Amino acid sequence: MVASQEARASRIGVDILERGGNAVDAAVAVGFALAVTLPRAGNLGGGGFMLVHLAALKKTIAIDYRETAPFDTPHDVFLDEGGRFVPERSQSTGLGVGVPGTVAGLAHAHAKYGSGRFSLSQLIAPAITLARDGFIVDDDLADSLPQALERLGRYPSTRAVFFRNETETKQRGDQLLQLDLAESLSQIAQQGPQAFYDGGVGSRVVAAVRAAGGRMTLEDLKSYRAIEREPLRGSFRGREVVAMPPPSSGGAHVIQLLNILEAYPLASLGHNSAQTIHLMAEAMKRAYADRAEFLGDPDFVVVPLRGLTSKAYAAQVRGELSSDRARPSADIRHGEPLAYESDQTTHYSIVDKDGNAVSNTYTLNFSYGLGLVAPGTGILLNNELDDFAAREGASNAYGMLGGEANAPASRKRPLSSMSPTILLRDGEVELVTGSPGGSRIITIVLQTILDVVEHGMNVAEAAASVRVHHQWQPDELRIERGLSLDTIRLLQAKGHSVRVAPTIGSVQSISRSGAWLMGASDPRQRGAATLGH
Ligand code: DON
Repeated sequence: MVASQEARASRIGVDILERGGNAVDAAVAVGFALAVTLPRAGNLGGGGFMLVHLAALKKTIAIDYRETAPFDTPHDVFLDEGGRFVPERSQSTGLGVGVPGTVAGLAHAHAKYGSGRFSLSQLIAPAITLARDGFIVDDDLADSLPQALERLGRYPSTRAVFFRNETETKQRGDQLLQLDLAESLSQIAQQGPQAFYDGGVGSRVVAAVRAAGGRMTLEDLKSYRAIEREPLRGSFRGREVVAMPPPSSGGAHVIQLLNILEAYPLASLGHNSAQTIHLMAEAMKRAYADRAEFLGDPDFVVVPLRGLTSKAYAAQVRGELSSDRARPSADIRHGEPLAYESDQTTHYSIVDKDGNAVSNTYTLNFSYGLGLVAPGTGILLNNELDDFAAREGASNAYGMLGGEANAPASRKRPLSSMSPTILLRDGEVELVTGSPGGSRIITIVLQTILDVVEHGMNVAEAAASVRVHHQWQPDELRIERGLSLDTIRLLQAKGHSVRVAPTIGSVQSISRSGAWLMGASDPRQRGAATLGH
């Protein structure tokens, strides 16, 4: 079964499974397909994180293919002469483009964990066909292109692909042909990832980044590596929670939040009751305060992961948490563990017949990334380096704060919130999940796990249920529409500043119980959970 945010891509993954591929083969095919069918988030020019669970070996691997800052990245790269953060630099120029990791990550997963029944080129083939033959613009593309018009319209190379004329993006019913992208994919299919990192495609990517004001070199591309890391592990109500380690903050804080919350009888307090939401929000504030202080690329800073994910630290945090009153964020500081708007990233979950699983989240950061198609390649480039903390006290596009641990540096990976997660029960895959949502990803994944494990929902109920979010700063409890007015009033009475805001997340989950699989693609978007036979 494949649950992804785009139906054609889900079908392509299922087709690989039906032809005898394993979950990793399918994940590689889906990853390349989404770069064609969901270009606002599926990508070759971005990066992400993949968890692979191998049932026979009872082993889970974390593949970090996050973008990396170019060698020439000074500490103050996003600041003006006066030391002020200029968001324009990280969000809208070539300086924000990180060295893309997706091609390396997918190729690495295929080479090490694929079934061996499919060559890389066979897994890329469906994506090439879709790019070369084109398809009719509908659903997500038709909605998301006009929203990104300003960013996309800046570049002639982007307009050539995504515009129907000088001023308008393609519309529902238009055909989208991506011939340059088909050619780039073919080169990767024929020559392997070196076509991207040390060949014609790579030189064009570098030229585009530099023309947009960035400092990336071919040397940066050549030295890019996907990195295998030890997944983080926690436990919750008899399940093992296997999650993404830094440079994503996702795993650390999903586990930390589950640890804090496991002492409360949330199920009997009630799903989305004011008391349950209050406890979640108070825990979330502390987790995001810790994130801002401690989290960064583990190859550059020591992240106190053991403390952050320990039950003892969670107990201490709980001790400071009032069950009646919201604590103002201004009073909350990080602890001592040593002792905005739409969903532009995308997640997919895959489980094969043998119980192998892949949980993958990848992104260009903004919808369509920087908006720049590298001329001659069809490849949209990311603006992921906005995830660095440009300076103390400056927030990025998702309102995230950070400090030295996540400061820009040469060849460093910016901190992420992406949280592909797998839950194991008695060593077997029980739940595979993840979501886009920028800073909200952590709390979305938290609530999905709580919905399923604590509140006994199935993955479809969990996908549809109302979500809430608090990220410490700004000090507001964000909720989706659908929470009852009396719940909102009770939360306000506890001192929460409640804001009803647009939908949160696009969760793609699969649950498994023996041979029984259930998939759910978030109803907020138009994906598909597709089952093979
Ligand atoms: O890595 C991160 O945390 C962000 N760049 C993810 C961006 C994202 O999820 C956009 N979707 N809303």
